[in-house]
Amino acid sequence: MILEDGFSRRFHYLRLSLTEACNFRCTYCLPDGYRPAGRKSFLTVDEIRRVVHGFAELGVKKIRLTGGEPSMRRDLPAIIETVANTAGIEKVAMTTNGYRLKERAAQWYDAGLRDLNVSIDSLDPRQFQLITGENKLAEILDGIEAAQAAGYHRIKVNSVLLKNLNDHELSQFLFWIKGQPIQLRLIELMQTGEMDARFQKHHQSGLPIKKRLLREGWLQQPKGQTDGPAEVFSHPDYLGQIGLIMPYSKDFCASCNRLRVSAVGKLHLCLFGEEGVALRDLLQDDSQHTELQTRILEGLTHKRETHFLHQGNSGVTPHLASIGG
Ligand code: 5AD
Ligand code: SF4
Repeated sequence: MILEDGFSRRFHYLRLSLTEACNFRCTYCLPDGYRPAGRKSFLTVDEIRRVVHGFAELGVKKIRLTGGEPSMRRDLPAIIETVANTAGIEKVAMTTNGYRLKERAAQWYDAGLRDLNVSIDSLDPRQFQLITGENKLAEILDGIEAAQAAGYHRIKVNSVLLKNLNDHELSQFLFWIKGQPIQLRLIELMQTGEMDARFQKHHQSGLPIKKRLLREGWLQQPKGQTDGPAEVFSHPDYLGQIGLIMPYSKDFCASCNRLRVSAVGKLHLCLFGEEGVALRDLLQDDSQHTELQTRILEGLTHKRETHFLHQGNSGVTPHLASIGG
């Protein structure tokens, strides 16, 4: 039994959201902050253990913890440890906004976390605050340094491309990664359900950036079989790399290698466009293991070839904090 869909795509990579809550207010995600809808409870450590075990036996080797902001879970170290100790899981990664990274990076590393993606949309403190609602750029940069010292080797930094907010900063970002082994991931803004005028106002294509990089001597790296949709560029004069994520480009979905489980235990086959397959009722007891795997495999047969973003259809996803970015 392996995870393969109707388009011969294989899935070794699962993104697991730990919470929908976040303490930042990024303009394109939670501009008014996180507002809990009723009393939601997110997956417990036991439920997480069972879901990860189920996927690992089906061939998943890498788990990325996402949110919301995963560090808002008080039991995060226990979660990391549980996931890292699951047979078959070779790599535990996490995406974070960097809050308290400085204090916690070493503790997470000791629990088994090995890869970090930290979101930084601007290297200008004022602009950073304008975008995220928090005046924390310096603190987060310190956090990255602390993480490097703690042993994380290839930290990735996520930066959403935003017209009129950070599109003049590329040179500054490039300068920053010249002497640092950071992969800067420039992400095109994706339209979600709660975003309309904002998307039109701020969406910026990554294509002009790709052209500029190629003009300035950056070399596009060939894609390995298990690599995801990012286009990666290196340069002989730079220790860092650039990863371009352009969901509106042709063939973006062809290299999709990821599945998602939301913080309430639904399997999502794509960031956009579907309700998700409930798994939580099968995470209540170890004896449900086989039933869980059968449901995962059945769910995967419904994965579609591509999203419908081009038609302006972002499906049911209100914002990425709800499903895990
Ligand atoms: N489009 C693109 N990226 C987004 N993120 C959150 N919402 C969006 C969106 N609508 C990014 C965050 C973070 C990562 C988890 O996803 O900036 O880096
Ligand atoms: Fe929080 Fe990430 Fe959404 Fe920003 S993008 S509000 S850090 S979940």
